[in-house]
Amino acid sequence: GRHLIDPEDFTMEELQTLLELGLKMEARPEEYADCCKGKIMGTLFYEPSTRTRLSFESAMLRLGGQVLGFSDAAVSSAAKGESLADTVRVMDDYAHALVMRHPREGAPKLAAQYATVPVINAGDGGHQHPTQTLTDLLTLQKYRGAIENLQVAFCGDLLFGRTVHSLLKTLCRFPGMTFYLVSPTELRIPGHLRDELQHRYHITLHETSRLEDCIEDIDLLYMTRIQKERFFNEEEYVKLKDSFILTRDKLKTAKEDLMVLHPLPRVNEIQYEVDDDPRARYFEQATMGVYIRMALLSAVMGVNLA
Ligand code: CP
Repeated sequence: GRHLIDPEDFTMEELQTLLELGLKMEARPEEYADCCKGKIMGTLFYEPSTRTRLSFESAMLRLGGQVLGFSDAAVSSAAKGESLADTVRVMDDYAHALVMRHPREGAPKLAAQYATVPVINAGDGGHQHPTQTLTDLLTLQKYRGAIENLQVAFCGDLLFGRTVHSLLKTLCRFPGMTFYLVSPTELRIPGHLRDELQHRYHITLHETSRLEDCIEDIDLLYMTRIQKERFFNEEEYVKLKDSFILTRDKLKTAKEDLMVLHPLPRVNEIQYEVDDDPRARYFEQATMGVYIRMALLSAVMGVNLA
C-alpha cells in the first residue's frame, strides 16, 4: 500500500492534487458521501489526541466508511507486552488503512515494514506530523491563496515540535519563502534539520528568541505549545513553559493580513482574547483537518473519484 510516514513521501504535484481535492470536498462534501463505502480505517493511538484521531474518524465516516481502533495503548494488548510489529500484522487484516500515533520516533515507519495496507503517520514523538502539515497547507490555500513568497515565523517549541518539523520542511519546497525561528535557545530546531534544510534549499533560517524581531514583517505566525510530555524534568519545563504568550497587544504592529495558526491544543501561549481577532485562524485550521484527511483517505484507499 501507499504509506504516508514523512511529508516528503508526496511529490509537489501530489500535494497540489490533494489540496485541490481537499478544497472540493470542503465545498461539496455530499458528493463524496459514498466513496469509501465498504472500507475500514483502523486507528492505533499510543498517545493522546483529540483533533487528529477524531478528524480522521469524522473524515472516514463522511466518506461512507467505517472505523475501529484504540485511543489508549493501556486498553490494547501492548499493555501485555505485544510488539508493534505483531499488532500491525494483526490489524492489517482488520482494516484497509492504519492511522498511527506513537510517542516513539520512527514507530509508524517500522509499522509500514510489517503492513500490507497503507500506514499513515499521525505523529511520532518529537519527529514528524505529516497530516498536520496537509491541514496547515489546506488552511493556507483556502484563506491565503497561493502558497509562495511568504514570510513565516514558527514560535515556541521548535526542538520537539513535530508539527513545526513537518511544516517547515514542506514550506521550504514552495517558492520565495523566508523563515524566522522564534524560540528559547533551549528549544531551537534540531541542528541536523537546520543544516539539512539550509544545504538543500539554500535558504537562511533566521533564529531568534524575540518575536518582536519579526512580528511586523511576517505573513504567517505559527504558534506552538511548549510540550510538557517531551521534557525529561519538570523544572526545565516550568522554566520554559511561558516563554511566549501571544496577546492582542503583541499583534498591534503586525500586518493586517497576517494569519495566526496553531496546531492545537494550546495551553497558555495564545491568550483567549486573540481568538476574536480576524487574523486568528486556528479553529478554522482544525476544521480543515477533516477535509484534507477525507482527501488523503480516498487517495490512499485508491478510490476512483472520476
Ligand atoms: N494538532 C494535533 O495533533 O492535535 P491532537 O494532539 O489533539 O491530535
